[in-house]
Amino acid sequence: MDFYSGRYRKAELFIRKTGEENGEFSLKKNGQQVVTTEVTSDTFHKATIELCENTEYQMDWMNSLISQMYLCGNEDIEETGIKHLVVNNEWPERAEVFDTPWREQFHFTPYVNWSNDPNGLCWFRGKYHLYYQANPHEQKWDNMYWGHAVSKDLVHWNYLPYALDPQSEILESDNLVGGAFSGSAVVLPDGLRIFFTRDLEERGKAETIQQSQSTAFSRDGLAFSEEQTILPAYAVEGIDMNFRDPKVFRNGENWYMLLASNYFGKGSILLFSSKDMFDWKFIGPLLQEENPEIPSLECPDFFPLGDDAWILLASVMGMRTEYGVYQPVMYYIGEWKNEKFTVNRRESCDFGCNFYAPQTLEHEGRRIMLAWICDWEGEQVTTRHGAYGGFTLPRELSVREGRLYQRPIEEVYRLQRELLLWQNGGKAVSVEVPGNSYYSCIEFCGKTEFEISLFDDGKDYLKIIGNNSMVELISSKNKDPQARFVAETEELKKLEIFMDRRTVELYLNDGEKAGTKIFMNPNRNGRITFRFAEETKVTHISVHRMEAIWTK
Ligand code: FRU
Repeated sequence: MDFYSGRYRKAELFIRKTGEENGEFSLKKNGQQVVTTEVTSDTFHKATIELCENTEYQMDWMNSLISQMYLCGNEDIEETGIKHLVVNNEWPERAEVFDTPWREQFHFTPYVNWSNDPNGLCWFRGKYHLYYQANPHEQKWDNMYWGHAVSKDLVHWNYLPYALDPQSEILESDNLVGGAFSGSAVVLPDGLRIFFTRDLEERGKAETIQQSQSTAFSRDGLAFSEEQTILPAYAVEGIDMNFRDPKVFRNGENWYMLLASNYFGKGSILLFSSKDMFDWKFIGPLLQEENPEIPSLECPDFFPLGDDAWILLASVMGMRTEYGVYQPVMYYIGEWKNEKFTVNRRESCDFGCNFYAPQTLEHEGRRIMLAWICDWEGEQVTTRHGAYGGFTLPRELSVREGRLYQRPIEEVYRLQRELLLWQNGGKAVSVEVPGNSYYSCIEFCGKTEFEISLFDDGKDYLKIIGNNSMVELISSKNKDPQARFVAETEELKKLEIFMDRRTVELYLNDGEKAGTKIFMNPNRNGRITFRFAEETKVTHISVHRMEAIWTK
């Protein structure tokens, strides 16, 4: 394979041998050998190669497999992003990687392979940084790396090199699994400090799990060093192996850390405090769930919102909502005084079943949340060069009448392109949408039952049914018979639909309720069909095509 370095000064690739024999890797510069090496490991290892700018390279590899390779190392990498290479002839060009029915067009996804939780979400030196749980090698969860991307608007992203790797002992052994688990970032005057969990376990043996908390520092947000353990596994009496996902924030004189855990048999979020971010004192549980079926509350986030409310977000393992949705994200709204949190209201954040591990950031007065589009029921179809797991639209949070509201940030609305339908009133109508990425808005002025079809091929369907006080999303591909995707409201005034190939997000009444659902639609085009029982109770309906964010 040949490539041209252009302005990039480094290449990073993940390689392993494929059989008993060692593999071989070689790189030539203008025909002259610069690297030859044996590939000895059965597990993927990262190789970093220094390159000369504007140079032709020829690369060969035998009896080995490369999961990903990209060019990086240029000074303005945040502007250019890394350049993924087509590592063998089986790899399609960038446009073909992105433009498939299985890839969201205006939701961020990893370039290929697996991602889960957003991590270290922050505004740092003029850009939004998103790190995320990632397996660069396959479309399934395995040893965890931190993927990394950067954006000026939280909508268009540039991929950056993977920021954290699993521990080397894990990479050396097929029997061990774990890596750099979820965590958060704190922006400091001289750089970025991250807090995250190091997980180490023997494959398939839950009793061997060791979860400890680490911190690392970076001047530029790209390369992290000075990693050190700040809390070892089982650091607190009464916890089990669940001890992860540090969320660190400052309040007054103190730094605080929240951790997902189980404390004396109850799923809990633990609170720690520190003066210097290294020496942490256990204060006690910030919140506990009484239900014994909840082993832990993952990925906590905690922040002030509105005049005097504090919001705690938690991804509740093992729980089912009143509509049977498994592992919901709950928000708890209340007061935070003298290191005690008093909850006034507890509600599920999203009425779909593909929303997990949200994280927030605060910038210029906006509190913005991104979550992982999870798939507990295994509805996703894995395709070659596919991305399994992406991220929801960034949602701006606010409090109204003691409840959490979530709306897509205004930058998302700027992706609207051609108007495909504008209709006053609710006459039945159907529109084909080339590309199946669109935004639709329906405004109501009274009570009516309705049905909106987002897919129907006679066998499978995805539809929204509703009336003035409830909306239900129904998918024939839903694999969880216990779960229904229902949002209740006092009066439905507005319904917004963000359909993006395999993901749909619904918003009611400017963010009173939000729901995320995946649906595998193999077609290139979408079709939306509206039917209202009382046509006069609909003010208008619109459908706009949405522009893809994958522009280069
Ligand atoms: C949530 C989670 C976290 C953990 C990470 C590992 O999805 O289980 O608790 O840190 O994923 O990838």
